[in-house]
Amino acid sequence: SRKYTTYSQLPEEHQMIYEMCAKFADEELAPNAGEWDKKHEFPKDAVAQLSELGLMGINVSSDYGGSEMDALAYAIAMEEISRGCASVGVIMSAHNSLYLYPIDAFGTEAQKEEYITPYATPGDSKIGCFGLSEPGNGSDAGAASTTATLDGDEWIINGTKAWITNAHEASAAIVFATTDKSLKHKGISAFIVPMDAEGFSLGAKEDKLGIRASSTSNLIMENVRIPKSNLLGKEGEGFKIAMQTLDGGRIGVAGQALGIASASIDCAAKYALEREAFGKPIASLQSIQNKISQMTVARDAARLLTWRAAMMKDAGEKYTREAAMAKLAASEAATMCAHQSIQILGGMGYVTEMPAERHYRDARITEIYEGTSEIQHLVIAADVFKEYKG
Ligand code: CAA
Ligand code: FAD
Repeated sequence: SRKYTTYSQLPEEHQMIYEMCAKFADEELAPNAGEWDKKHEFPKDAVAQLSELGLMGINVSSDYGGSEMDALAYAIAMEEISRGCASVGVIMSAHNSLYLYPIDAFGTEAQKEEYITPYATPGDSKIGCFGLSEPGNGSDAGAASTTATLDGDEWIINGTKAWITNAHEASAAIVFATTDKSLKHKGISAFIVPMDAEGFSLGAKEDKLGIRASSTSNLIMENVRIPKSNLLGKEGEGFKIAMQTLDGGRIGVAGQALGIASASIDCAAKYALEREAFGKPIASLQSIQNKISQMTVARDAARLLTWRAAMMKDAGEKYTREAAMAKLAASEAATMCAHQSIQILGGMGYVTEMPAERHYRDARITEIYEGTSEIQHLVIAADVFKEYKG
């Protein structure tokens, strides 16, 4: 596998996770990613292998079957897995950062046993999902219109969540719903909803531009009754739980974007060394060299931002701004690298014989989900101004 100077400076545990994920990506993911994309096929066996490798519970405590690794290890793993297949990357990130994390951080002992252990233990294949967005509001997450009403010992949930990753394969969902609309975001609570509950159904699978091997669907809840004990955290704490979860999630998406950037660079550099024009390899042309250099600088700069955010999370510091910066820079690096990779391949970049066109399609989503680039700018600027206001 590839060796970077940046990796040799990492602790041995992180170099090991890098080596393991790089090997898995090269041998099991990259050779199949094109086929899964073409067929819109959920890579069931690959996800089962991820679970065996301990990657479907990477940050969770071993008390609940997890691998107990830190956020830096997660960022490294997300990059390598996504370099092999960006769809597998999002399946892994939605499960780890959006489903397992909030239960781990805010759940009760009983919730962790029921809703983490069978989802995080190697060999167990249960998957989770995260329902925040709705048809009427994505960026404005505080405007949730899904409702939760307490009826005796049960919550009754009504509403539709939109665009939910892993919807068709998941067994449980974190659902954000309002218990008091007049309180705006302070009326939102988080719930753990088993997806086989009566009244719970799925919309059709979205037909997407990229990450086509992962499923995306509406979650439709009509008088879904769940036990009172499935409230996650305290009543009214849901918006903060969502925001804190997304801080960590943005490190995962940054990792995914870095993987797409890396796959684009790999593809372009190898091709440039082999393809000849005007009697010599195109790698000898300065225009091509400039592109490869620009792509590598953007990818590496975004990687350092991502690792910084991860290390701040591991140190227990507030890292909202840094996670937003990492996600913004990495997603822009991914779309730029994928765009230039096609350019370097010329006509071969435009056809499905080569992976460059898939990287281009996959890259685009990283600028949209877990907060659009416009939302990342808003989060970053607000925090910068807070610093100057004192
Ligand atoms: N951590 C903790 N608390 C936070 C926080 C954070 N990162 N960000 C905000 N809050 C708190 C604030 O302190 C404030 O608390 P008080 O009410 O006690 O004062 C409260 O939340 C409201 O804050 P804002 O006024 O800043 O909230 P807002 O309504 O203006 O929204 C926003 C802020 C950043 C735009 C937010 O709505 C947001 O992040 N939107 C994007 C939504 C998003 O990323 N969705 C992703 C869905 S998941 C997905 O896409 C999955 C996938 O990739 C697979
Ligand atoms: P809108 O919020 O309607 O935004 C439209 C445009 O307006 C954007 O350009 C946006 O940046 C801009 N805009 C909006 N508000 C502002 C503002 N205040 N300032 C500046 N510009 C603004 N959600 C989940 O909850 N769970 C999931 O698992 C999940 N997975 C997804 C998977 C896929 C493939 C996709 C496409 C989406 C997924 N989402 C998921 C939803 C995703 O998070 C939202 O699509 C995203 O947050 C944007 O929301 P929106 O689509 O409603 O766009």
